[in-house]
Amino acid sequence: MTIKTVGIAGTGLIGAGWAARLLIRGYDVIAYDVAPAAEAKLRAAIDVAWPSMIRLLNTPKVKKGKLSFTTDLKEMARKADFIHEAAPEREELKIRLFKEIDSYARPDVVIASSSSGFLPTRLQSECANPGRVIIAHPFNPVYLLPLVETVPGEKTSLEAMDRAGKYLDAIGMHVLRLKKEIDGYICDRLQEALWREALHVLDKDIGTTADIDDSIVYSAGMRWAFRVAPAACALSSSSSIPLWSFHGLICAFPNGTRPWRSALSKAARRRLRARPSPRSKPSATTSSST
Ligand SMILES: NC(=O)c1ccc[n+]([C@@H]2O[C@H](COP(=O)([O-])OP(=O)(O)OC[C@H]3O[C@@H](n4cnc5c(N)ncnc54)[C@H](O)[C@@H]3O)[C@@H](O)[C@H]2O)c1
Repeated sequence: MTIKTVGIAGTGLIGAGWAARLLIRGYDVIAYDVAPAAEAKLRAAIDVAWPSMIRLLNTPKVKKGKLSFTTDLKEMARKADFIHEAAPEREELKIRLFKEIDSYARPDVVIASSSSGFLPTRLQSECANPGRVIIAHPFNPVYLLPLVETVPGEKTSLEAMDRAGKYLDAIGMHVLRLKKEIDGYICDRLQEALWREALHVLDKDIGTTADIDDSIVYSAGMRWAFRVAPAACALSSSSSIPLWSFHGLICAFPNGTRPWRSALSKAARRRLRARPSPRSKPSATTSSST
């Protein structure tokens, strides 16, 4: 099936971002929202996004898709070839919305939630056709940032994941396909871990918010823009601190990474104890940066 018209349920920050990304690539968008001023806000958000998208894509002339707006969910769902749900992050609301959209949309239409962390199995739980329900979690601003995490629920079909992947790829997304569901998916879990430590630093009055920013902006952030781990570890290895693996990292920084140890299996902990720490073998090369 060719995807020409994309439906969007919820046209706030994320829904408007999807709409802008689609319109500039020539897709028609049918947007649905319940708020009285939603259409005006949506059009204003697209106007704000447009100049940045033109610069990013380096295409001054584009054949813009057609934007229509409706407060009739059935109309949106019936006309769409693919549907993004971007309503507020409330599970009961999304479950209800999915049930309703599922009852109107053609059976071959994939319905993708923008949720930041809910399990797709829960969102598809009241659908008659749960196989076409997936998570497609984007990042704000959706019209600029390419990553989208796709996550299957227990009843999601492989075909729906494949179809969604192809479409998302065609609209310029970098598709990160999770093998199975987990609360918060991959990206928000990693970001939450950093947040947790940042709050700990503030709570213990160890540093300021500016210090926390600087600690990432001038060091790991530069590396993380390309690779995180273990590739980044390998790049920053020295002969005294071989960080080519998580094992090397844990051995090199036994105190800082102590919480990780409890997450290791018993066998992995035994192997760690058996190996000498890389720090116990100093060599001529001592520079490292983690
Ligand atoms: N804000 C972010 O950075 C971000 C990033 C990734 C994913 N998300 C996820 O995207 C979704 C939307 O977030 P947002 O930041 O755009 O929220 P938002 O509050 O900006 O927009 C939500 C929109 O949904 C509308 N709405 C309310 N009830 C509705 C209903 N029953 N049906 C349809 N629309 C309804 C609201 O009127 C509003 O326009 C959430 O699931 C959120 O977790 C947000």
